[in-house]
Amino acid sequence: MKQFRVFGNPIAQSKSPSIHQQFAVQTALMMNYESELVELEQFDIAVKKLIANEGKGANVTAPFKEQAFALCDELSERAKLAGAVNTLIFSNGLIYGDTTDGLGLVNDLLRHHVQLKASKILLLGAGGAAKGVVQSLLEQFPQSLTIANRTLSKAEAIAEQYPKADVSAITFEDTEHLVFDIIINATSAGLSGASLPISDQTIKNADTCYDMVYGTESTAFLKQAKLLRVDNIIDGLGMLVGQAAESFYLWNNIRPDVEPVLMSLRAELNQ
Ligand code: ATR
Repeated sequence: MKQFRVFGNPIAQSKSPSIHQQFAVQTALMMNYESELVELEQFDIAVKKLIANEGKGANVTAPFKEQAFALCDELSERAKLAGAVNTLIFSNGLIYGDTTDGLGLVNDLLRHHVQLKASKILLLGAGGAAKGVVQSLLEQFPQSLTIANRTLSKAEAIAEQYPKADVSAITFEDTEHLVFDIIINATSAGLSGASLPISDQTIKNADTCYDMVYGTESTAFLKQAKLLRVDNIIDGLGMLVGQAAESFYLWNNIRPDVEPVLMSLRAELNQ
């Protein structure tokens, strides 16, 4: 049977095995997908072992996305720009790397009928999560993409990667005077419960507030948006299922239906 893994450390919390097993049932494909805890120095060895044991592909999560990038023989344009890989495909003795996080995000926004074309997008954060979605957002032809980060130089470094597009870097304070249609939180602040210094007015002006983080409780950012009655308030669960669907497609050339899987994960979260 074709073997797939998700490599990470920690990994026990990963929902990927459950998601991919549901996709496999849905599409009647025989595949075995498991999570594997990898020691920090052992990533390359784990990948080679999988390849030797009927491995067809793998997902990669923290902290190995950059190591996976370095290990690949070939990379998609998106992965090159992100400097990170979340999907490995093993074919003809080569390791091909791609990143599907951006497509997962964009597809989730489109599924919620959020108009990306000609929109003014504010992306909060300039770490790996933010970097991984910029190219996919730009492929939707927004009017502008503004990256705000606590450490401005990191946002500037991302903006410089896209000289042909309207991508700019600002501080959180600068957001106060600007109007955006869509605000996407790609900082890890939500994980620690920390709130971001984004003014109520900036949030009120937006139609959509999206947080890449998901959980049983809303992040401080989404709570703020709820209080201010923003139209579309979306957490990152759909992005998670969406990025998995794109990985599944890269491996199997079949696009699974995200909706039933998302519903079952949402029900689990709300239990
Ligand atoms: P990830 O892979 O999740 O993106 P990361 O690369 O460590 O993780 O990046 C974390 C991002 O969240 C960064 O943009 C970070 O801001 P800095 O670049 O200034 O460090 C941002 N971040 C984390 N906690 C934050 C907080 N409490 N307030 C504002 N930004 C925060």
